[in-house]
Amino acid sequence: MKILDQIGTGSYGIVYKAQRRNMEVAVKMLKFSQAAEKTFVKETSIMFKLKHPNIVTLLGVIEKPTAIITEYYPNGDVCELAMNLNYVIDEEHVRKICLDTCQGMAYLHSLNILHRDLKSRNLLIDKDWNIKVGDFGLARSMNDSGSFTSCGTPSHVAPEIINDSQYTAKVDVYSFGICIYEIVIRRKPYGNLQALQIAVSVAKEGIRPNIPPNTPLIWEALMCECWDEDPEARPSFDTLIEKLEQLELPEPSRPTPYKSKQNSYSSASEEYLNTRRGSTATSTTSNSFMNS
Ligand SMILES: Nc1ncnc2c1ncn2[C@@H]1O[C@H](COP(=O)(O)OP(=O)(O)OP(=O)(O)O)[C@@H](O)[C@H]1O
Ligand SMILES: [Mg+2]
Repeated sequence: MKILDQIGTGSYGIVYKAQRRNMEVAVKMLKFSQAAEKTFVKETSIMFKLKHPNIVTLLGVIEKPTAIITEYYPNGDVCELAMNLNYVIDEEHVRKICLDTCQGMAYLHSLNILHRDLKSRNLLIDKDWNIKVGDFGLARSMNDSGSFTSCGTPSHVAPEIINDSQYTAKVDVYSFGICIYEIVIRRKPYGNLQALQIAVSVAKEGIRPNIPPNTPLIWEALMCECWDEDPEARPSFDTLIEKLEQLELPEPSRPTPYKSKQNSYSSASEEYLNTRRGSTATSTTSNSFMNS
């Protein structure tokens, strides 16, 4: 196997693109710490059991240096797509991204597996623009008992996890609500608020991302339902699939998915991507399917 470019860095490792025989693959090298190694072992043992068109496909594991090999998805992730305002995302595209994600998540939940780190960055896009849910490093069986271990990304984590309360599969539905926000509004959910501030405001004050007034009501209603304070009021992924299939959308889909208006990133998405790379950024801009 030949390691090619570095794709990115996450909480548990560095991801590289590599060539294995005639195939491009993604290799996630583990950052070495005992905690990370445990998470890694958990990630692989869960992933080996999974097979679904909307779940990242595991190809193998390397022990030394510890790494995980998955299919390589050439169209990046949904976070990059959503924050790049040069891409047109019409409402049918939003439906497709959401439906694919819900199918993958419904499959996970049918196996009693919680994801616990669902976010647009963990939704990868294959060459045919299908969505693959990835990164089960924090997932664990719903049958497991056990106390809160720090998990997830503050902007996407349900209040009951932050509050160290009992929680159910509905924590993933909460995170999915934040994903809908990212895809539809095309902004970071809490601007430049720091992780700790987000956690406190969400869990103690019940704040949620700010929805601009011109947001289509169907998407606003859906995200709000998903991030309801009461986990039982949140729909299941099976229910979400039914709702999404039945939505009557105003626009016909464009023939080419996510057709890029230009090749370069807009300054807004550049700023967001810079934040992800560790620098600071200011908050952004407007919804592009409404502008397009
Ligand atoms: N199989 C893959 N194919 C293509 N790109 C990938 C693949 N897996 C991960 N990436 C990209 O690599 C980058 C880092 O991913 P990684 O999962 O390590 O971090 P993260 O998703 O930002 O955070 P977390 O560690 O919480 O999951 C992301 O930009 C992601 O889109
Ligand atoms: Mg990830």
